[in-house]
Amino acid sequence: MNIQNKSSKNSLEFKSIDYQLQPYTNPELIKENGPQVFRSGRGVEVKDIDGNSYIEGMSGLWCASLGFNETELVEAAITQMKKLPFYHSFTGKTCESTINLSEKLIEVAPNNLKKIFFCNSGSEANDTAIKIVWYYHASLGNPQKRKIISRKGSYHGVTLAAASLTALDYAQKGFGLPLDFAIHTTWPHYFQNSNDNETEEDFCNRLVSDLEKLIEIEGAENIGAFIAEPLMGAGGVIIPPKNYFALVQPVLKKNNILFIADEVICGFGRTGNMWGSQTFDIEPDIITCAKGLSSAYAPISAVLMSENIAYEVEKQAIKLGQFGHGYTYSGHPVSSAVALKTLEIMEKRNIINHVRKVSTIFSKRISRLQKYECIGNVRSLGLIGAAEFVKPGTKREKIDMAHKFAATAVKKIHESGVILRALPIDAIAFCPPLIITEDEINQMFDKIESVFPEMDQIAKAYN
Ligand SMILES: Cc1ncc(COP(=O)(O)O)c(C=O)c1O
Repeated sequence: MNIQNKSSKNSLEFKSIDYQLQPYTNPELIKENGPQVFRSGRGVEVKDIDGNSYIEGMSGLWCASLGFNETELVEAAITQMKKLPFYHSFTGKTCESTINLSEKLIEVAPNNLKKIFFCNSGSEANDTAIKIVWYYHASLGNPQKRKIISRKGSYHGVTLAAASLTALDYAQKGFGLPLDFAIHTTWPHYFQNSNDNETEEDFCNRLVSDLEKLIEIEGAENIGAFIAEPLMGAGGVIIPPKNYFALVQPVLKKNNILFIADEVICGFGRTGNMWGSQTFDIEPDIITCAKGLSSAYAPISAVLMSENIAYEVEKQAIKLGQFGHGYTYSGHPVSSAVALKTLEIMEKRNIINHVRKVSTIFSKRISRLQKYECIGNVRSLGLIGAAEFVKPGTKREKIDMAHKFAATAVKKIHESGVILRALPIDAIAFCPPLIITEDEINQMFDKIESVFPEMDQIAKAYN
């Protein structure tokens, strides 16, 4: 079927979709309703083939940080496409744009990170980081240090290793995951996971004590790394309790366990600093990043590692004859050119300052949602936030999950002209493009708020 001629609202006849097994999609739903097909974008908005416009309150998948029609990025891709559309980085070769990107990325990275490995997605970056951890410890004569600790509720991707670290049921069910190198420690969500009357400080101490117990049970000599999103994204936009990372890091250091900061969502300005690690005073040994690296205009991700790790990895690679890892598209020249331009735009337009400035109104508008009875907790940092649902009249009792309350809210918000995302803990996430203006934030929340009187009625009817 010709996409250009397709104008019907019901996209069921959209032939191409019959061949597509869609990611994170219930095939039955697609059969019933057909897919929603998007055609164009402008600023923070996207438009579908039926002409419906939406404010993209999630930057797509937490990624299109510079919005949906940044011509400088398009031009960077075209220029590189014309010059050299592909070359690889195997066997000592590479491309100019990849070298230029490496320089820029090291310039903006935390000081101790000095070497980069390029991949194509957040999942690949995390798989690569794990292999680097294993390689590093093997080089130091500790090949048994293979277990990796992640936190319950975290999202690290879907490839075999990354999905094992992703501690969310929906990414593991049916696949026989997690693999046994992955071990999980306590969910750091104070609002839901604290005991009655437990202070945030006590909760934080319990998390650290749980981590210490896990290390003792598994044996520090068997644990290679700890992986954490500075702020948990897909698992619920969970801001760690105060001092969490300050207390966790010495425990890891003492046990010779590396810290991988998964900055796939937090990196490149999302929390109001270049890195989430800066926001939370983390000194990671490894950073993985993707998404905002190219504002999602081209697939690219990266693993940034400390000088110390790079030294050991290179030593081991020399011993073994080569670093036996790499993707055909590692350091792809077009993706590299787009990523480099993204970083240049961020600097030139001072996007991080903009995020800090508009985050005040963003946070104010999220906080205002607290007045609705179905909302038990709201939180935000920079330009990422969430509103978590509860049974009206209770502090944190969940609405029966069978009602799929967050999904209903997202559907109604969608009808009002804003795209958001339902999170597995019965919450909705907000993660608009970093270029969003104060006016657009207000427009977005006016639309979102318009559905909440009805959502309150629905929630009360369940009681
Ligand atoms: C924190 C985090 N890590 C890793 C990933 C996986 O990235 P990708 O979907 O590009 O493989 C995601 C994706 O949302 C993420 O949020």
